[in-house]
Amino acid sequence: MVSLEDYKGREQAYVKHVLLERYLEALVHKTASVYPHIVYVDGFAGPWQSANEHHEDTSFGIALRTLRTAKAAWKGKRRDVKMTAILIEKSASAFKELEKLPPKFPDIEIIPQKGDFVGLIPNILSKIPRDAFSFFLLDPKGWRIPLNALQPMLARPNSEVLFNFMFEFINRAASIDDSVVVTGLNELLPSGDWRQQLSQSTTSDQRKEVLVAAFTECLSQAGNFKHVCETTILRPDRDRPLYSLFYGTRHDRGLEVFRDCQVKALEAQAATRAATKVDKAEAKSRQTEMFGSFHEMNENEASTFLESEKNKARAALVALTPDKLNPILYKDLWPLVLAKHVVRLTAVNQLAAQLRKENVIDFPDWEPRRRVPQPHYRCCRKEN
Ligand SMILES: C[S@@+](CC[C@H](N)C(=O)[O-])C[C@H]1O[C@@H](n2cnc3c(N)ncnc32)[C@H](O)[C@@H]1O
Repeated sequence: MVSLEDYKGREQAYVKHVLLERYLEALVHKTASVYPHIVYVDGFAGPWQSANEHHEDTSFGIALRTLRTAKAAWKGKRRDVKMTAILIEKSASAFKELEKLPPKFPDIEIIPQKGDFVGLIPNILSKIPRDAFSFFLLDPKGWRIPLNALQPMLARPNSEVLFNFMFEFINRAASIDDSVVVTGLNELLPSGDWRQQLSQSTTSDQRKEVLVAAFTECLSQAGNFKHVCETTILRPDRDRPLYSLFYGTRHDRGLEVFRDCQVKALEAQAATRAATKVDKAEAKSRQTEMFGSFHEMNENEASTFLESEKNKARAALVALTPDKLNPILYKDLWPLVLAKHVVRLTAVNQLAAQLRKENVIDFPDWEPRRRVPQPHYRCCRKEN
C-alpha cells in the first residue's frame, strides 16, 4: 500500500496514487480472469519527485506491484496470465531509472521507451496484442496534449484510461489571449462551445463545471467511452481544485468498481487535507490544542460531499425511471445514476429499495425476502 510518509509536501500525489492503486488492484485481478494478457501503459512514467528508494510512491511502482500480485494470485489457481508494463519517459535521467527495472521484475515484461509519448503512440499500440486488455495512465506534467493524436490509442477496444487533466493550469490558460496558448487548449478540448460557456461563467464553480463537462465530452468521443467520470484533487492546504482525474470505460462494472475506489480516495483526501492544514496552522501559531475541532471539520468534507451526491443520486434515480409503459431493467438503470454522481452501487441499491417502500418506484418482479433490486428486475414509476 502507498504510504503517506513518502508524500510530504505533495499530498495531492498521494490521493492520486490511492485511487490508482485501489482501482488497478481490482481491475487487473478481474480482467486477468478473462484475458490472457494485461498491458499497463504509463505515458508519462517518471520517476518524478519520488522519495522512496524502491519507487513505491510512483505510478509505475504501484502498477508493477499490482501486476506482480495479480499474476501470482492467478498462478496459484493454475492460470497463467502474461503481464506487461510499457513505461514511456522523455527525460534522460528519469529514463535511466526505468531501465533498471526489468531485472527486478523477472515475472513481468517491462518495456521502457524513451521519447515523446504522443509521437510513440503507433509504436506502443503495435506492442499490445489483440487479445490483451490494456490500461492507459496519462499523467503529464503540463496540459499541452493534442487529444486527436491520442484518439487511436483511446479508441483501442478492451481498454480503459485514467487521464490527469491539469485543471488549475488549464483554467488559468483558458483566460490567456495568446495564440500559442489558445491553439494548445483547442487541441486538448477540440470540440464543444466551452469557450463561449466560460465567457458566460461568473463563478469559479461554474468555470470548473464547464471545463469538466467539456473534457468529459471530448474524452468520451475520442475513446468511444460509455462512461467518463471526474475526480477532483484539491490543493492539500487550500480549498482549490488542483487537478481532475478523468476515468474512461466502456463497462458498467468498471464504473461500479471505480466509484468504490473514488469514494475511498476522497475519504483519504479529506483526512490528508485535514492533517496538512492542522500542521500548517500549528507551525504558524505553535498552539497545538486550538486545532482539534478544525481537524474534525476538515475530515467531514468528504462525508458532506458524498451525502450531497447521494441526495442527488436519489433524485436522479426517480427522474431516470420511466413510466410503466416503458419499464427499464435495473441493470440498465443504475449505471445511468452512477455515471452522473459520485455514489456507490450499494448505496443506489438501498435508495432503490427505499423508493419502492415509499411507493415512488415499482419493481413488479421483486421476489419475497429480497432486500435490494436484482439486475433483471423491471422498474417503472409508481402511478398513484
Ligand atoms: C507528473 S510526472 C509523472 C508522475 C507519475 N505518473 C507518477 O504518478 O508517479 C510527468 C513525467 O512525464 C515526463 N514527460 C514530460 N513530457 C513528456 C513527454 N512528452 N513524453 C513522455 N514523458 C514526458 C516528465 O519528465 C515527468 O517525469
